Amino acid sequence: MTTLSKAFDSKTFKETGMELINFLADTFENADKREVIPYKTPEEQYLYWKKDFTISGNPEDLFKDVVNRSILYHHPHYMGHQTAVPALTSVLSSLVIDFMSNGMGVYEVGMVGNTMERVVCEHLCDKFGLGEDAGGFITSGGTLGTLTAILTAKAHYIHKHECDAKDIASLTVITSEQSHYCIERAAKTMGISSERIIKIPVDEDFRMRTDLLEEAYDMAEKSGKKVFCIVASAPSTSTGTHDDLIKTGKFCQEKDIWFHADGAHGAPAVFSEKYKYLVDGIGLADSVVMDFHKMMLTPGISTAVLLKHRHYAFETFRQEAEYLWNKNDFEWHHGGKSTFECTKSMSILKVYSLFKQFGDKVFEEFVDYQYDLTKEFAKLINCNHNFETAHNPDSNILCFRYTDCENPDSFNVRLREQIMIEGKFYIVQTSLNGKTYLRVTLLNPRTTIYHLERLLKELETTAKKLKLQKA
Ligand SMILES: Cc1ncc(COP(=O)(O)O)c(C=O)c1O
Repeated sequence: MTTLSKAFDSKTFKETGMELINFLADTFENADKREVIPYKTPEEQYLYWKKDFTISGNPEDLFKDVVNRSILYHHPHYMGHQTAVPALTSVLSSLVIDFMSNGMGVYEVGMVGNTMERVVCEHLCDKFGLGEDAGGFITSGGTLGTLTAILTAKAHYIHKHECDAKDIASLTVITSEQSHYCIERAAKTMGISSERIIKIPVDEDFRMRTDLLEEAYDMAEKSGKKVFCIVASAPSTSTGTHDDLIKTGKFCQEKDIWFHADGAHGAPAVFSEKYKYLVDGIGLADSVVMDFHKMMLTPGISTAVLLKHRHYAFETFRQEAEYLWNKNDFEWHHGGKSTFECTKSMSILKVYSLFKQFGDKVFEEFVDYQYDLTKEFAKLINCNHNFETAHNPDSNILCFRYTDCENPDSFNVRLREQIMIEGKFYIVQTSLNGKTYLRVTLLNPRTTIYHLERLLKELETTAKKLKLQKA
């Protein structure tokens, strides 16, 4: 057998595959028996893999090694960043996606994927009430989705107002000071400088002050700026606070400005009867971004970009490419005609498979559980005089801190680092109004109030140890 033919040997594929599935299922079942994060410093990790790279070995051992040396999202003590804990069907979808490896730029090589994108996006547009002309497609991540949406807003404005070079150089975006950094990154990538990215202050709940929109807009226009897009967060990243989409949407309608709703994290609240009020007004948006790999239980990365007028994206990316398409007009089934990417993964299968197996219900139960649990956790914290919360949670993100110490800002940094290094819990941190807070995102269906009680206890025990070390 040649080396190349070994790489395509189906017997090995079957054997390794069966063993791998068994190993992953065992890892899942026994998740809480290992550390959530087997923390190693970057240098230790580098030396390990540098050596590993030189030793030939079988894939079974390699895959096990990867899992055993990585953070485990399925562990109930994983409550850090907003990356989904993947549902198991969705994990299997990833295998099919990579085995088929169908691209999406051209219909023939992405027949199923392009069609599934259309079906799922139409379902989502219906849910959000985006209207008859709405539709969307998938991009690789919320950052790229945001760039795609804001580029579309810009192209549409330039076309509609027949802008000259001077107008284009004046284009301005308004967003809140709590919006995700990808808004600013997208604007800067498009050549919009910092002074034309206006950040509206937030109120005490970290919600964009929509009462300041009129003044910010007037000042911008008076100084020759042309506001073409306003971005509201649904919700913001640090605190998970939902901006008022109704007020923002109506303001945009009144001024004829593109309204982009960044629902990367929280747009799935739409599936919940109890919490869908949080995204009231999302139907007014010209574009919505929604990550499947945050609150839709899928592995990374897959993001829906939904547009009130689907064909605007085609106008934005209209290009000749004779080697791909004959006609230079809008055809939904050629993914590459409306998106930034050319070769793209059929990542839609990850969420399509969940819709097909469980319907909307699985997302409703998920949102209800996590949002309820976060409120319960906030109550628990507020009953403990050693801690304080930074805000009342709107969603499943909560910032809080340990207060029984001299300098809570530096102490909470050390505290978080210590419990991470010990591999006990994975939580993150953020800064709000210049103060450091611990931050959790509750998106693990296996995390219960019992684990959160243990987290507070662990933080208190570790805090005592750190204080003793200092004394
Ligand atoms: C509100 C919000 N928008 C956009 C993004 C960017 O998404 P992605 O990480 O998929 O690029 C994030 C990521 O955390 C986010 O929280």
